[in-house]
Amino acid sequence: MRAELAVDVCVVNGENAADGIGITPRLADRMLATGVDAITLGNHAFRRTEIGPYLDASDRVVRPANASSSAPGRGLTVVPASNGTRLAVINVLGSLFLHPATSMFELIDGLVDTATGETPLVLVDVHAEATSEKAALARWLDGRVTAVVGTHTHVQTSDACVLPRGTAFVTDAGMTGPHDSVIGVESELAIRRMRTGMPVRFATAQGDVRIEGVVIDCDPKSGRAKSIEALRVPFS
Ligand SMILES: [Fe+2]
Repeated sequence: MRAELAVDVCVVNGENAADGIGITPRLADRMLATGVDAITLGNHAFRRTEIGPYLDASDRVVRPANASSSAPGRGLTVVPASNGTRLAVINVLGSLFLHPATSMFELIDGLVDTATGETPLVLVDVHAEATSEKAALARWLDGRVTAVVGTHTHVQTSDACVLPRGTAFVTDAGMTGPHDSVIGVESELAIRRMRTGMPVRFATAQGDVRIEGVVIDCDPKSGRAKSIEALRVPFS
């Protein structure tokens, strides 16, 4: 797909790569080896304890910048693109249901200033439950970053657009995973937990696997976006 789409730099959210929850060093390495340039995380960033030292050492994998200051890893990195430019990648967590150590709005201006000091190309992965938080962050950053891409809710939204001052935005990029499911979990298990209120061990579903995401075209000099297109591709 990278070659087909002539993509210069590729970022994935990998917070649920480890069988539906968290990520391991081995999985992060595998994703990076397949042509991924940077991996963002989310509320499940630290679920697999072995990822801590890996995050401390990695300049390719970012966890939410507004996680606790004692958490391992970093929330901002800059990675090279194949066309000679560099992309700054920022990961932040929304507040609703996710309990970050601080509000993303407290930190985001400083992060964006640091990023734009390095490169005009800046991607923000806003990992959040509430559509309003994602829209507010995108509008706040419009004209200052290349793109604000929402993740976490697993359902691709139909609102991909370039905002008035040139920032690409989508509320949620969607889920690369099994869509014959309840947001990735075997439907029967998710339904049983909701219907009975009893603890049920979740298992990752298998059917209708799709790759979902967005492709953004931008001006490498100004860092402003020209277009954003949602992708939804069956994986077979
Ligand atoms: Fe999440």
